[in-house]
Amino acid sequence: MVKVQARQVRREFQIKNHLGNRETLSVLKDFNLDIGEGEFLSLLGPSGCGKSTFLNILAGLDKYDGGEILVDQKELRQRSFDRGIVFQSYALLPWRTVIKNLEMGLEIRRIPKKERRRIARQYLDLVGLAAFENQYPHQLSGGMRQRVAIARVLAYHPDLLLMDEPFAALDAQTRETLQIELLRIWEADKKTILFVTHSIDEAILLSDRVAFMSARPGYIKEIINIDLPRPRTEDIRNSAEFARIRKNVWELLQHEVLKVQSFGGYL
Ligand SMILES: Nc1ncnc2c1ncn2[C@@H]1O[C@H](COP(=O)(O)OP(=O)(O)O)[C@@H](O)[C@H]1O
Ligand SMILES: [Mg+2]
Repeated sequence: MVKVQARQVRREFQIKNHLGNRETLSVLKDFNLDIGEGEFLSLLGPSGCGKSTFLNILAGLDKYDGGEILVDQKELRQRSFDRGIVFQSYALLPWRTVIKNLEMGLEIRRIPKKERRRIARQYLDLVGLAAFENQYPHQLSGGMRQRVAIARVLAYHPDLLLMDEPFAALDAQTRETLQIELLRIWEADKKTILFVTHSIDEAILLSDRVAFMSARPGYIKEIINIDLPRPRTEDIRNSAEFARIRKNVWELLQHEVLKVQSFGGYL
């Protein structure tokens, strides 16, 4: 089954250029992508190519100007509670404690109070913040807030998980731990994940497929299957197979760079 079908999607913004004149900025053009049900797909591309724009559209937070997007075979219209999103900049509610932030989505789902607390604690524990449940977001570091945001969306258990560089701001060790935890959670229930990252290694480690975008106006240039066995654990990073796939991906990108200079964003 296909979870998401994006066909010839187009998105443009009306902006004022540096001279103060109106200009149309073409951000997505001829953007085509299918994401399978239960698939883990990573999206890579040079900065400013439209990755976040596409995620925002899928989340129902932004519109598109042409083409078609189907989610579960139905035309995408507005925000749906079946789609969870973790933004690059974590959006926690400052007036709620950590545990209450985690419970937000579960409240929307009308999960009873006791069960809510149990699930929230389980995920808070997962991101190593059990001791902080009664703190407020401003009392946490940026990395900790990001972990709360990740835990919140995982606890919410959406059908389609949209993650926009969720680990970018974390220290290396937390990042590696959460990558493996995310894999473990995903391997347990196989929800669909669309994951934006700048890291080729992260994309290889996590994904079934890695989609590479062109520079703006962004479209999908190349999709690579990652045929590493699952479940993937910590050791896979050091395996010969991982090294082989990484080499293939880099060779392909080098080739692309020679073909199209604008691919410099990767290097
Ligand atoms: N609301 C907006 N209004 C005008 N321009 C926008 C808006 N949102 C994004 N852009 C522009 O669209 C381009 C793509 O942005 P974005 O999707 O955030 O890129 P990425 O996530 O790939 O780095 C950028 O040039 C950005 O400035
Ligand atoms: Mg972005």
